[in-house]
Amino acid sequence: MTRRTYYIETYGCQMNEHDSEKMAAMLDKLGMSAASAPDTAEVLIINTCSIREKAEHKVYSALGKFKSLKTRKPDTAIIVAGCVAQQEKNKLLKKVPHLDAVLGTHHISELPRILDKIRAKKSRITSTDFVEDVQSLHMVAPLKGANPVCSFVTIMQGCSNFCTYCVVPFTRGPEQSRHMDEILEEVTRLAGTGIREITLLGQNVNAYGKDLARGYAFADLLRHLDGIPGLARIRFTTSHPRDFDDSIIAAMTNLETVCEHIHLPLQSGSDSVLSAMHRGYSFAEYLAKVDSLRDSIPHVAITTDMIVGFPGETEADFMKTLEALERIRFDQIFSFKYSARPSTAAQSMPDHIPESVKIERLSRVHELQDQITEQYHRSAEGSVEEILAEGIRPQSSQVFGRTRTNKIVNLEDPDLICPGELVRVRITEGLKHSLRAVRAV
Ligand code: 5AD
Ligand code: SF4
Repeated sequence: MTRRTYYIETYGCQMNEHDSEKMAAMLDKLGMSAASAPDTAEVLIINTCSIREKAEHKVYSALGKFKSLKTRKPDTAIIVAGCVAQQEKNKLLKKVPHLDAVLGTHHISELPRILDKIRAKKSRITSTDFVEDVQSLHMVAPLKGANPVCSFVTIMQGCSNFCTYCVVPFTRGPEQSRHMDEILEEVTRLAGTGIREITLLGQNVNAYGKDLARGYAFADLLRHLDGIPGLARIRFTTSHPRDFDDSIIAAMTNLETVCEHIHLPLQSGSDSVLSAMHRGYSFAEYLAKVDSLRDSIPHVAITTDMIVGFPGETEADFMKTLEALERIRFDQIFSFKYSARPSTAAQSMPDHIPESVKIERLSRVHELQDQITEQYHRSAEGSVEEILAEGIRPQSSQVFGRTRTNKIVNLEDPDLICPGELVRVRITEGLKHSLRAVRAV
């Protein structure tokens, strides 16, 4: 039977969101179309995340939800893709009898072939080996992504850092960069279709090119991308503090299209925890880089990731994390309770922290950071900013966009503004998670 409709449920990071866009583009190319709900789809794909245990649980509850659907409509093809697929491999087929295929992180380009095999009812399929040459992974962005103004562009695949808590090197394989000429070609093509902003994606973009024979650096890539006709803004994520250097600060300072925002995960304020995490920097080294960035770009926005309750984290270690938040005053942070992950070194470390202590520490982090983020938003009131209009909110008809420093702005007088336009706005109100603004005269 030829299947005509698909539904993709996506969990996890921007890398996964982008992989889902690529899968959707492949299915569209086969003449299929997106269903509005799982019940009406003939192909169901769950693109999964395993960064923390909670994310992995969500996958199993989603699969549970689809069991009755498969009973009612046995011809529905159910495929699990992404990090849980990579981690569990064919064990997942054993655990979930109503699953048709397991598609690893290096195999999304095989989706059409996998669908053929399911159709031929040959066998249930697992495709999870790591591919050696990343250039063959079809990392190319789809012609039409989810957003007509902003697009992700994969510049690297995988990670070789092996931070002791992190499952990513096991689920996405070793760090491999894409060739620069392919990236430039892709961005030029995207800009030609009206894309105004790109976000360069990789687990460790600051190390871009180090693995390539030609030996480019990330700052070289930024320099080549700056000035592509039509492209107004360049963002990138995620940066590793160890590889963040003066050449990147210079690129952020001097290149017009590179936005004044960096996501620079600190993870902990305590040197002994950073060392146990295998992060490769001390708090003082991190701080020196932040200070030097702020010297060059005083209004730069800095966001971060923090983990509380890493094995062995004492109250004194945790206080250093709070002190780091007060000292650096990040614009925004993403904070997590440590979660033991399979294959990682930290899972077998001694002195795991009780859940109640992790919960309490996380709430103290939230309380402090919420105040800081709100203060930033309040202090923006009255200032004039440039936003890139990204879309129109269906309920309120407000235009929304982001400042160059990545703050979400809702426009109160959106008349005659089209998505894709750069607009000068005056901030009228700083809220907890966003800013309100009117057009600046
Ligand atoms: N437990 C909790 N948080 C984690 N992260 C990665 N692995 C874990 C884990 N095992 C967080 C880190 C990383 C972000 C993407 O997720 O803060 O920067
Ligand atoms: Fe995970 Fe560390 Fe690699 Fe980031 S740098 S993906 S935290 S191993």
